[in-house]
Amino acid sequence: MNIAVFVSGKGSNLEAILASAELKGLCDVSMVCSDKLDCPAFEIAKRYKIPFLSVCESEKDGFVTFNKLHQIFTEKEIGLIVLAGFLKLMPKEFVRAFPNKIINIHPALLPSFGGKGMYGIRVHEAVFRSSAKVSGATVHFVNEIYDEGLIIDQAAVSIEDVESPEEIAQRVLQLEHVLLPSVIVKFAQRKIEIKNNRVYLTKKS
Ligand code: GAR
Repeated sequence: MNIAVFVSGKGSNLEAILASAELKGLCDVSMVCSDKLDCPAFEIAKRYKIPFLSVCESEKDGFVTFNKLHQIFTEKEIGLIVLAGFLKLMPKEFVRAFPNKIINIHPALLPSFGGKGMYGIRVHEAVFRSSAKVSGATVHFVNEIYDEGLIIDQAAVSIEDVESPEEIAQRVLQLEHVLLPSVIVKFAQRKIEIKNNRVYLTKKS
């Protein structure tokens, strides 16, 4: 299965996907996309010799439009789009063109601490301020609203003893690097089913 990974930052989740032994032979990262022209994660794409490009809604120098990207993805037979630290909302038309084929990782236990403006360290600051005792990571299907698609899988960690949002970020990122590749594996193995508007991870071999 060919996958496209969307990034906005340093790309540690992209790197975790590329380094995953379980994903080898199952998935190929065929393209890396960003909303930025000089996204730090492009350095990882270069190292792995993966084509990368910058995308935005309207025509702009150095960017392709989402419309064009739709065409490219069809040609490349992209079976899954992974938002791995991509911080822009995708255009509705693009999301509708890939039903249940776009997943996102969020650095908290949704449906808490999500929504517009909740990304990166801001999420961990909100979790820290709340005095929550657990946090974690969520992988969910992407719909037209920030962080509101059906939840596919989650991982949690105790944060009882943390003294800063950065400490939460560190613990959650470690979970993300395991959770995201594992969901992609299940997707590629067709072990993710939607029934009665709930997501089930099937155990079939
Ligand atoms: C990750 O923690 C990811 O969960 C978060 O951005 C970080 C990207 O790190 N995404 C969001 O906050 C989306 N709402 P990375 O570039 O090192 O993978």
